[in-house]
Amino acid sequence: CALCVLSPAKQVKKLDTLSLVLGFIFVLLKAAQFYQKRKKVLKALEAFPGPPKHWLYGHSHQLSQRKLLAQFMEWAEEFPYAFPRWLGPLPTLIIHHPEYAKTICGRGGKSSYLLIVSLLFASQGEGLLVTSGAKWFQHRKLLTPAFHYDVLKPYMRLMSDSVKVMLDKWEKNKERKPVELFHDVSLMTLDTIMKCAFSYNTSCQTQKSVAKLLNSKKTKGTGEDPEKETPGFSGHSTLWGMWAPVPIAAAQTQPSLWLAFREDLGKMTFCTMCIKESLRLFPPVPIVSRYLSKPVTFSDGRSLPEGLFALSIRLVHLIFPQMFDPMRFAPQNAAQRHSHAFLPFSAGPRNCIGQQFAMNEMKVALALTLKHFELTPDASRPPILIPQLVLKSANGIHMHLKKIC
Ligand code: HEM
Repeated sequence: CALCVLSPAKQVKKLDTLSLVLGFIFVLLKAAQFYQKRKKVLKALEAFPGPPKHWLYGHSHQLSQRKLLAQFMEWAEEFPYAFPRWLGPLPTLIIHHPEYAKTICGRGGKSSYLLIVSLLFASQGEGLLVTSGAKWFQHRKLLTPAFHYDVLKPYMRLMSDSVKVMLDKWEKNKERKPVELFHDVSLMTLDTIMKCAFSYNTSCQTQKSVAKLLNSKKTKGTGEDPEKETPGFSGHSTLWGMWAPVPIAAAQTQPSLWLAFREDLGKMTFCTMCIKESLRLFPPVPIVSRYLSKPVTFSDGRSLPEGLFALSIRLVHLIFPQMFDPMRFAPQNAAQRHSHAFLPFSAGPRNCIGQQFAMNEMKVALALTLKHFELTPDASRPPILIPQLVLKSANGIHMHLKKIC
């Protein structure tokens, strides 16, 4: 060949030039591809009016974490169904209408958590939440039987054991000062998931050093067994927020409602209605993002090409008033609700696999707590909501706990 007749030094030089030229062509092709895709997205976004943006920062300079929820509410009122949100030069369409949610939830799509999670939890491996395609399908199929109603039944005892440890701690608190619930509830949910998913008793609620436990090999994913990775991840992140909406709702509602609540614990119907109304007002996962692999057309004819979009579960829920009213979830009122107006666990093929587990745990925890304590909000420290990976309160959740004799 032409290269063989050259001296070895010249051959290396020639190969260097060749790879440089090929590299340059590759970068040019990628840039052209990116430009074409972006042009398509920008054209499609013209159909979705939104708040004015800065040419460089987009909306980033207007949205601090504390202001985000309120600002999104304002924009949702002004721009129905969906509006673009710009993170610098990168747009995301924020969807906030049940009809749009229905269209979008029916599709799979890649989770955009992949990037965030791999940055935050590099050693956690790829759990179900962050995989996609054939791998996700196979793992989801494998894991689904583990969350069957009958399989979850025996966990109720383990859940109530963990809750009792939390209640014992509160009972020992003789100072009568308000208690910050989020920390204790998070530990209780961690304790529960470790017992249920790994048959491992962490004693994390009573141990001083939880950090030690969180860093230990037993609770961290190893990346070797994907079926074990997912609950590990869920234990760390999803469950942080799991029981939080209920105390937040309690902190904002009338004590009389909670008295009525306690009377119905036998049947748990009213309890379930209250939990659902809490999940509506304070969805632990306030927003989910996806990467659309195929274009989609909504019911009003507007369409979106391949690209990033986000579904604001909180805004979809707030199509109803912000007042806490569990009767919204009475069986007779279900028919009046849009099928996708209540999505705390998302919907469609990528909905929450642990939703029955979570509902069971919330019922057990709430029923036992209200059997032993009367809860009233600490009016001097109302929760300040901030959306992180899960919805949290920036200043904790402070409640007065009065032991019921
Ligand atoms: C109140 C508690 C919970 C809420 C509100 C919740 C909410 C959600 C939501 C909204 C999603 C969809 C995320 C997305 O599409 O990006 C999701 C997915 C998921 N959740 Fe939960 N979750 C809860 C508890 C749990 C628990 C207890 C477990 C496990 C024991 C769990 C395991 C998962 C998994 C594995 C996925 C990914 C499913 C998939 O992509 O196929 N979740 N959850």
